[in-house]
Amino acid sequence: MDKTKEVAVRAARAAGQLMLERVGDIGKIDYKGAFNLVTDVDKAAEQIIIKILREEFPDDAILAEESGASQGNNSNRRWFIDPIDGTTNFAHSYPLFCVSIGLEEAGKLVLGVVFNPVANELFWAQDGKGAWLNNTAIHVSKVIALGESLLATGFHSASRATEPSNRELFMHITDTTHGVRRDGSAALDLCFVACGRTEGFWEKQISLWDIGAGTVIVREAGGQVTGPNGKEFDLSNIKVDIVATNGLIHDQLIGALTGAPIAKR
Ligand code: IPD
Ligand code: CA
Repeated sequence: MDKTKEVAVRAARAAGQLMLERVGDIGKIDYKGAFNLVTDVDKAAEQIIIKILREEFPDDAILAEESGASQGNNSNRRWFIDPIDGTTNFAHSYPLFCVSIGLEEAGKLVLGVVFNPVANELFWAQDGKGAWLNNTAIHVSKVIALGESLLATGFHSASRATEPSNRELFMHITDTTHGVRRDGSAALDLCFVACGRTEGFWEKQISLWDIGAGTVIVREAGGQVTGPNGKEFDLSNIKVDIVATNGLIHDQLIGALTGAPIAKR
């Protein structure tokens, strides 16, 4: 597993280097839907990551945001790759974006690497080995009241037409807590829960490449990641609804998402 982690870190740093070289110089922006942006840097960064992983682990399966799914020969491992999580931020030179690389083994998320090249912050975690920011172990916060929590959420690109409910929740929870951030990178949202910068994050219909790595990082930092029903989400669906917290406010956040009142303390 150490070799696996070392290769994932190498791939994340290589992709992050390309992002640093190209931020502010991206050429044409393409669209994968009305509001879902993609740049040639997303595609090039993904190819860098896949080449490094394929050289070392040719039998593993891959699910990557830009090139989709490719099967492995005989491995029970599957990589979740988001070459740029926060593409809209990247395209606007808004400095919150990252590389996200997660690994599922035998049906379980076991490794997560998230690299923010602008801040030079490498978040990583391995099953049973804790969660780390660069060389320092990280832990979730100890805040116990949702009313005293800072949260984050996101809105997937198709949500403008289909999902008024998360905007209503965004307003309601903003008004009754320390606030809700909308940073535009689900992978970083999860890492910020893991290192105690926020207490919780939720999003509907988020793709596995956005949250595979961050889920391991939150869990290894002592937090909790589930679906909005409090149960483990199913890795056989590419899109999931996710709630991630420091564990202490988990039930309160799930309650608030289903309409329960939020106590101040
Ligand atoms: C998006 C970001 C955003 C989330 C969207 C994702 P992308 O990923 O993670 O925070 O709200 O649902 O699609 O498009 O920047 O890779
Ligand atoms: Ca993404």
